[in-house]
Amino acid sequence: MTATIIDGKAFAARVRGQVAEHVARLKADHDIIPGLAVVLVGEDPASQVYVRSKGRMTVEVGMNSFEHKLEADTSETDLLNLIQKLNNDPQVNGILVQLPLPGHLDEDLVINTIAPEKDVDGFHISNVGLLGTGQKSMVPCTPLGCLMMLREHHGSLSGKEAVVIGRSNIVGKPMAQLLLGDSCTVTIAHSRTRDLPEVVRRADIVVAAVGRPQMVPGDWIKPGATVIDVGINRIDKVDGGTRLVGDADYDSCAATAGAITPVPGGVGPMTIACLLANTLTATCRANNINEPENLTA
Ligand code: GUN
Repeated sequence: MTATIIDGKAFAARVRGQVAEHVARLKADHDIIPGLAVVLVGEDPASQVYVRSKGRMTVEVGMNSFEHKLEADTSETDLLNLIQKLNNDPQVNGILVQLPLPGHLDEDLVINTIAPEKDVDGFHISNVGLLGTGQKSMVPCTPLGCLMMLREHHGSLSGKEAVVIGRSNIVGKPMAQLLLGDSCTVTIAHSRTRDLPEVVRRADIVVAAVGRPQMVPGDWIKPGATVIDVGINRIDKVDGGTRLVGDADYDSCAATAGAITPVPGGVGPMTIACLLANTLTATCRANNINEPENLTA
């Protein structure tokens, strides 16, 4: 079998187009422009790249982008004060603090200082609890993007066996909650899982989110299963230079799977598209305006 390639880049462009249409309508009908504040502490090169592209795409869909770049040695008090200011700013509908933070800052405290209704990452403990109990919440962007692609490819996910490899708070755990919400039978596998290949072989849906390059080989994949690859790993090429690979071994998995997301061009672009969708959702909720149903879980 040759797998269908799930084109996350094209899907993300469509989502951003839908967000842009809603943003234009908010402006025309309600004179509201959604605003996203992104806070970057320090100069981690990868984070700088992410923050720059988030800012550019925010403006492209017609929203206001507020970037706050702080020195690496910023005190926790100064960072918390900035978050409080953004919480109280009516121009700001979404707040994202880029992770990881420098070691002297308490990540949990920082995230839990963000007003839950502006927490477009969905990392605040209130949003985690709301998602876990099936209530309306802000949903973490990467798992939301994966869910959108799975729904688009399969239609209903009801009754499917889903195996999520990785138990991070950012991807693995919320992904499992979302799949459960769509009535999948969900297993979360991790580094201590016994006989991981056998666990993965029973899955109709495999979500690989461990951050280990090419760790899932094709012979772990049930013929026809869908592979969603969340990994973005840079590896050395044999002839020099580097390239990006996922957590799944693409060639062997594509030979067995029914559908697969490529790296790059799969899950990655969906994450920022969902960040913009979440900012739109937060803006609608803050103003008691009906939110677009297909842009959230
Ligand atoms: N760093 C890597 N991924 C993310 C993300 O989704 N949100 C935030 N805030 N930081 C990140």
